[in-house]
Amino acid sequence: MFIRIFSGLKLVELFLKDETKKVFATCRNPENATKLNELLEKYPSRLDIDMIDVSKEETIKNYVEKRRDSVKFKVLINNAGTYSLDRFENLQNATKEGMLSVYETNCIGPMLMMQHLYNNQCFENDAIIANISSGMASINRTNRPRKRVSYCTSKAALNMLTKMISIELEGVYCFCIHPGWYYSVILILFNS
Ligand SMILES: NC(=O)c1ccc[n+]([C@@H]2O[C@H](COP(=O)([O-])OP(=O)(O)OC[C@H]3O[C@@H](n4cnc5c(N)ncnc54)[C@H](OP(=O)(O)O)[C@@H]3O)[C@@H](O)[C@H]2O)c1
Repeated sequence: MFIRIFSGLKLVELFLKDETKKVFATCRNPENATKLNELLEKYPSRLDIDMIDVSKEETIKNYVEKRRDSVKFKVLINNAGTYSLDRFENLQNATKEGMLSVYETNCIGPMLMMQHLYNNQCFENDAIIANISSGMASINRTNRPRKRVSYCTSKAALNMLTKMISIELEGVYCFCIHPGWYYSVILILFNS
């Protein structure tokens, strides 16, 4: 049996179980986020849902503008991730457009989230930025040809971004996480 896990949703659920936590969830289409809206009905005072498409900087700016005077974030989890729809994407056929589009979500999006929140003093002191990376970005473990060049390299770039944030920015801790393997759209497509 395969269970499709929506990891972002699970994280929201997990944090809401702690009564001291308030969760600010974002997604591309809040009106279609059925499960998230069910959680909102259950936890109306501790969950806010807003729209961000991390590949569109304007949506990040608008969000930070809306929140900056009222919230200090303790934890930012950059979970959004995408991949090439071409399962045969490799070094010889990867396209500029395909690479850019995956980089926009997997690396540039987390960078802009961090940057706009940090520059607008939206983090609590000693806040945590957790970037969800992938074992497929491991340079050490890449010892055979890999498909999905854009995914592997964009997550490797995210790892470097994480390292740079962790040593350069005052007042925040930043690390990346490989969440392990679980059945989601991403893993199902990778295995197809
Ligand atoms: N599944 C695994 O085994 C595995 C292994 C290693 C790492 N990861 C990482 O775990 C994270 C979650 O992925 P998942 O496997 O749980 O797959 P998933 O269910 O497809 O989740 C990916 C999420 O990212 C969102 N997203 C994609 N592009 C976005 C954008 N431009 N702006 C905002 N949100 C966007 C998607 O939103 P929509 O619902 O609107 O499409 C979706 O909710 C990803 O960063 C992935 O790389 C997963």
